[in-house]
Order: sequence, then structure tokens, then C-alpha cells
Amino acid sequence: MLKDKVVIIIGGSGLIGKAFVKSAMQNHATVINADINQPNTKLDCEFIHTDITNKSSLDNLIELTSQKYGKIDAVVNSAYPRTKNFSNHFFDVEYEDFCTNTNLQLGGAFLVMQRFAKFFKSQGYGNIITLSSIQGVVAPKFQTYKNTQMSSPVAYSAIKSGVIHLSRYLAKYLKGNNIRVNCISPGGILDNQNEIFLSQYKDVCLNKGMLDPDDICGALIFLLSDYSQFINGQNIIVDDGFCL
Ligand SMILES: NC(=O)c1ccc[n+]([C@@H]2O[C@H](COP(=O)([O-])OP(=O)(O)OC[C@H]3O[C@@H](n4cnc5c(N)ncnc54)[C@H](O)[C@@H]3O)[C@@H](O)[C@H]2O)c1
Repeated sequence: MLKDKVVIIIGGSGLIGKAFVKSAMQNHATVINADINQPNTKLDCEFIHTDITNKSSLDNLIELTSQKYGKIDAVVNSAYPRTKNFSNHFFDVEYEDFCTNTNLQLGGAFLVMQRFAKFFKSQGYGNIITLSSIQGVVAPKFQTYKNTQMSSPVAYSAIKSGVIHLSRYLAKYLKGNNIRVNCISPGGILDNQNEIFLSQYKDVCLNKGMLDPDDICGALIFLLSDYSQFINGQNIIVDDGFCL
């Protein structure tokens, strides 16, 4: 479905990013994994070291890719920079940590969008896909964390709602440039969470509960493909009904 498309997946070494890379390759795209870290399992695609919080690193990624392949069809930002205190509970969050995480994630998302929008404008077309979360769509369902140490970071809600709206802003700002900007909001992804949480989480969903990274790939491939040519400024929620 993605034959002849050159797709950059930023954060392609991560939990969701790896599934994105594999799925885009299975659909015959030429894929570049742009991450600050090498993947821990082998991915048969090019790797370009990239930091989304660094303008010249992103410009270097754009230049290397466009020169080698002659074009870039799409960029997906699945990077997830965060500090070690990111998951602190609300009253334990230091102001500095709130600001740093917002700078890294929302600031990084902005920078990816700005650098690629500039390139896509000069190219005459482009496709930008951002990653938000259910936590950017609705308030946390705190009952899912009962009797666990877990919580949903307050900065995450601020950042992820920001990513959705930034995507709408940019889609509209780029009117007339043949550039689409859409967002995917996944539900929680399985990653060895404890059983109490998994069961409480499943209670607020419709069938499966927490999802596998592969469950998000259908939305990605759809947005990368020409089947979604006139879908622009949208947020696709893939969450087994969590947000209902
Ligand atoms: N995991 C979930 O449950 C979940 C649910 C909903 C949404 N999301 C969103 O999906 C996206 C990916 O999440 P994930 O779970 O795959 O995260 P992850 O931590 O597994 O992977 C993130 C990747 O980003 C890379 N990275 C970190 N800082 C970077 C930087 N400055 N520049 C470039 N790359 C950098 C890391 O090396 C890593 O490979 C995030 O936007 C996250 O908010 C995740």
C-alpha cells in the first residue's frame, strides 16, 4: 500500500516506533528510523541518529534523507523524551520537571513539525503524523491505578492535548500547500504492567483493554496511504473504547 513512499519514523527504536517501522516496511515503504538510540533488536532499515529537541539534528535528517532518496513523503513522530521523574504523582511534581518534560515532548513535537513543514512546503507536498494519547483526549481514569504505585503524569495530559491541537493548528496554517497533518491517539500499550492495573484498565475498555503496539499500526498505514488523502487535521483514537 506504501510502495514508492519514503517514510521517516522518528522514535523508531521505541515500543510503538518499532512496530511502526516493521509495519511500514511490510507495506513496502522505504523506511528510515530516526532515533536518539539504536533499536535493541535488529530492524532492516536505515538508522539516522536524531534528536527532536535539536534543530540542526532535524535539518540534518531532512537533508540526508531527501538527498539520498530524492524526496520525503511522510514523517511520523513517535519519539518520547522524558525525565526520570516524569511519572511522579501530582503533588510530588517539581515545577522544573513539569517545564523540562513539556519542553522536551511538546517543544520537540513543535520542532519536528516546524522543520518538516518548511521542507514539505518547498517540496510541494508532505504528510506529518504526530502521536498523542488517550490522556490528551480525556482526563485520566484514576480508578485504573487503584492499589498500584502508578499514576498518569500531569505533564502528559498537558503535552498530549497540546500535540492534538498543534496538529490542527498546523494543518490549517498550511492550507493550500498539499501537506496533511494528522494525529494518532493510542490507548495504553502492553509493556509488562502489573495484573491489578491490567484488570482495572480492562474494566474501562470494551474488549481487549491494554493494546499491543501492532494494534496501532492500521491507523498509521491508513494515514500514510493515499486512502486518507483528504483526511487532514484529525485525531484518530485507537483505544478499545477507553475514551467513551
Ligand atoms: N506506550 C504507551 O502506552 C503509549 C500510549 C499512548 C501514546 N503513546 C505515545 O506514543 C509515542 C511513543 O511511545 P513509546 O511507548 O513507543 O515510547 P518509548 O519510550 O518506548 O520509545 C520512544 C523512543 O523515542 C526515542 N527518543 C527519546 N528521546 C528522543 C529524542 N530527543 N529524539 C529522538 N528520539 C528520542 C527513544 O530512544 C525511544 O526509542 C509517544 O508519543 C507516547 O506518548 C504511548
